[in-house]
Amino acid sequence: MTAAPLISNRAIDARDSDATLVVLLGPPGAGKGTQCERLARRLGLTHVSTGHALREEVRRGTRLGALAARYLDRGRLVPDALVVDAMTNAIARSGATSGVLLDGFPRTAPQARLLEDLDLGTVRLAVALILERLRSRGRADDQIDVLRTRLISYETDTRPLLDHYGRRGILVHVDGNRSADEVTATLAGHLVAAGVSPARSGPLLV
Ligand code: AP5
Ligand code: MG
Repeated sequence: MTAAPLISNRAIDARDSDATLVVLLGPPGAGKGTQCERLARRLGLTHVSTGHALREEVRRGTRLGALAARYLDRGRLVPDALVVDAMTNAIARSGATSGVLLDGFPRTAPQARLLEDLDLGTVRLAVALILERLRSRGRADDQIDVLRTRLISYETDTRPLLDHYGRRGILVHVDGNRSADEVTATLAGHLVAAGVSPARSGPLLV
């Protein structure tokens, strides 16, 4: 018997796109979601969050969601194939045609290679947010043991990914330990320098 494809509803429309992709990396609580929301709102970019995409599959009761839930509940990385399919679906649902902020994806070097194979767009900038802050937002995977697992996993799995983007010359490190406004301003500067967003005169309004 031939195994059914893991995900049958992969969104074809999201492929072969010339979209500009920006990768935001950082440990849990680094502020990826906060910054992506701000940048999307102010610069007209599309924010696609891995955690949200996976939780959306769980909420919809898809097969992908049922498989992913086992990992999410324990704070473990979800297998690459599931993450890639969840993100492909989420990018297609977003209707994005140009700048896309990828929040938490790719998270491993194999995911980065899968992303390149998918032709969803071109990664022009990878940002590593550096930070020790970790706060509970009341989510199921915010329990302290689960948070610890998520942090250790980030350190182990992300190093080769940083090397991957570093070799391509598109990696920048950003200190996330400052106010949200300061971080947003720094990130916006990198987006302009990478040609992702047009330069703007005046301050980036909150
Ligand atoms: P996901 O939901 O992406 O969680 P995460 O990566 O663990 O990151 P968080 O959402 O917890 O933090 P954040 O960096 O977005 O910070 P936030 O803006 O909320 O993923 C959940 C799970 O899915 C993972 O554990 C894993 O199992 C799985 N997964 C995800 N991606 C995967 C992948 N690629 N492959 C495999 N599995 C994957 O900010 C945190 C707090 O700080 C907030 O309260 C915020 O208000 C505050 N804050 C933010 N910025 C500032 C600031 N500058 N000053 C003061 N406070 C601030
Ligand atoms: Mg987040």
